[in-house]
Amino acid sequence: MLPPVFLSRFARRALIFGSLLIASCSDIVPDAGPRMVAPVLLTPDARDVHSFARPEVARVTHVALDLVADFNAKRMAGTASLDVSAAPGAEEIVLDTKGLEVASVTDGAGRPLQWTLGPADSALGAPLTVRLGGAERIRVAYRTAPQAAALQWLSPEQTAGKRQPFLFSQGQAILNRTWIPTQDSPGIRQTWEARITVPEPLRVVMSGEDLTPEGEKAAGGGRAYRFRMSQPVAPYLIALAAGDIAFQPLGPRTGVYAEPSMLTAAASELQDTEKMVSAAEALYGRYRWGRYDMIVLPPAFPFGGMENPRLTFLTPTMIAGDRSLVSLIAHELAHSWSGNLVTNATWADFWLNEGFTSYFESRIMEAMYGPQRAAQLVALGWNDLQRTIKEQGGPASPATRLHLDLSGKDPDEGLNDIAYEKGAAFLRTLEQAVGRQRWDAYLRSYFDRNAFQPMTASIFLADLRKNLIRGDQALEQRLMLDRWVYEPGIPANAVPPPGQAFAAVDQAVSAFAAGGLVSALPFNGWNTAERLRFLNAIPRDLPSERLAELDRNFGLSGTRNSEVLFAWLKLAIENRYAPAVPAVERFLTSMGRRKFVAPLFEALVAEGAWGRPIATRIYAQARPGYHSVTTGTVDKLLAGKS
Ligand code: BES
Ligand code: ZN
Repeated sequence: MLPPVFLSRFARRALIFGSLLIASCSDIVPDAGPRMVAPVLLTPDARDVHSFARPEVARVTHVALDLVADFNAKRMAGTASLDVSAAPGAEEIVLDTKGLEVASVTDGAGRPLQWTLGPADSALGAPLTVRLGGAERIRVAYRTAPQAAALQWLSPEQTAGKRQPFLFSQGQAILNRTWIPTQDSPGIRQTWEARITVPEPLRVVMSGEDLTPEGEKAAGGGRAYRFRMSQPVAPYLIALAAGDIAFQPLGPRTGVYAEPSMLTAAASELQDTEKMVSAAEALYGRYRWGRYDMIVLPPAFPFGGMENPRLTFLTPTMIAGDRSLVSLIAHELAHSWSGNLVTNATWADFWLNEGFTSYFESRIMEAMYGPQRAAQLVALGWNDLQRTIKEQGGPASPATRLHLDLSGKDPDEGLNDIAYEKGAAFLRTLEQAVGRQRWDAYLRSYFDRNAFQPMTASIFLADLRKNLIRGDQALEQRLMLDRWVYEPGIPANAVPPPGQAFAAVDQAVSAFAAGGLVSALPFNGWNTAERLRFLNAIPRDLPSERLAELDRNFGLSGTRNSEVLFAWLKLAIENRYAPAVPAVERFLTSMGRRKFVAPLFEALVAEGAWGRPIATRIYAQARPGYHSVTTGTVDKLLAGKS
């Protein structure tokens, strides 16, 4: 691993071209306006191996989409107009595309420009190189492929209402190039606007300011909806959803979108959101994105949540009926600072997004619900970390580094939970070393200093040394910064979670392991974290009678809590407990969240002659309903270990 490279603030803010005056706008105007051009980073660890773009030559500063969604053909078609900022003498600009059918490229006045589509890489797609001929705006006319990985087209049967189709996009990490021809690198920030036309009576929502909540009649038929994002964002954060979508306000700047039949349950589950935004602001500074809305998507959404600016995308599996899974909202909300405001410059530093966010999530949970609940989540995370390290090949495995080497890898395969949990453990260790007050002041200033800019591991460490450590050699020694960021495993100074978070549960685990009566356990009085701790801590090898007792006493197979159901079904599969198979089948055919789907199929396959036929049968039924992100993982799983 190369030693981190430090560049002065001047060098780091220096635009390759353009004026320093513009680059430093973000210091004066906290919420960068439409004319702001974010700087291109110069540190060696800012080179993005997952993009064909050469931003030091020419880069996209603004994207204007005008697209029509065709639900029958499963295609979006239209134009992307890109504002380009080119270095003196630059002759061409390189964009990222994947599976796009490009019809033409013209300049701002409609004059044709020369363009070529390079050879396609199976993960990265193909570079679209356009000869600029001095053009400052280019317009690409194109349509997307029906299999575009960023887009999931759902049939009416795959929705809650069953009457209208649905469409949503998922950009992270490198999927947006399958529907937008732009420079798809998280270090290249762009403002954007969009006009999206859909058939009536569908509504469109996007991760930007909604300019036409009612839509407008489109000349060519259907309704058009317009949006604008005037703060520069990483291109993976451009997102859309279209369907039978209704809205309910939650507070002055928060609200929830969902299919009408889901709306009441969604609004009740998300009741605390307005307060959460205020709690987050009290920790690390003003919320800079105006509104914070959420959309509860159909169950095929492959993630728990996705932090699209102004509009978090959510799985319906977070609706437990008792608000017990709202740490997911704390997480996605925290990304409004760590991720959306200060953004990993490349996917090698994914931990700068997810580790900071997991730490921030637990601070929001503590502010909202008290130290006990927060400590329990930290303790669960710590156990996940230990398990992930094992799964990744042990504490010497390069996959357990925070700063990753992803060259030659699809980020979708190279990214893992280490970023979340080791990243959060690192920040907790820093907090404990300097004290909460000093640490919080530093973190608040970090977000202010670096707002609307890309971040790398080396720049973060330099920032930390300059603004927190300030030459204190003893502190520098104690922190083991480079060890944390560039080496595998968990450094010796890691602060473990508070030991007493689950004292009562751990006692019950011992009683159960010693053969104690299940009916005597206080499980039904526990919160979700406690239930999860119990299910994950009891002996993995259990006879059928014990599993039957657990299910009977605690109603596990019928629980509405997706996290508890998942933990139970995994345990059941590992014990080849046949009575749980119908519940496994119901769960796997009713939602497509990869975090639940993949481990359950993996557990089935691990049970060889017993589990594999069950996996094959259920997958044949479930696969058509899953997102490509989920099938991509499960296909490999089922093909792999035969
Ligand atoms: N940004 C991630 C989701 C993501 C990561 C999408 C990498 C594509 C590539 C999001 O913030 C996230 O971490 N979601 C988690 C939930 C969270 C509470 C840990 C998820 O989806 O499970
Ligand atoms: Zn996240």
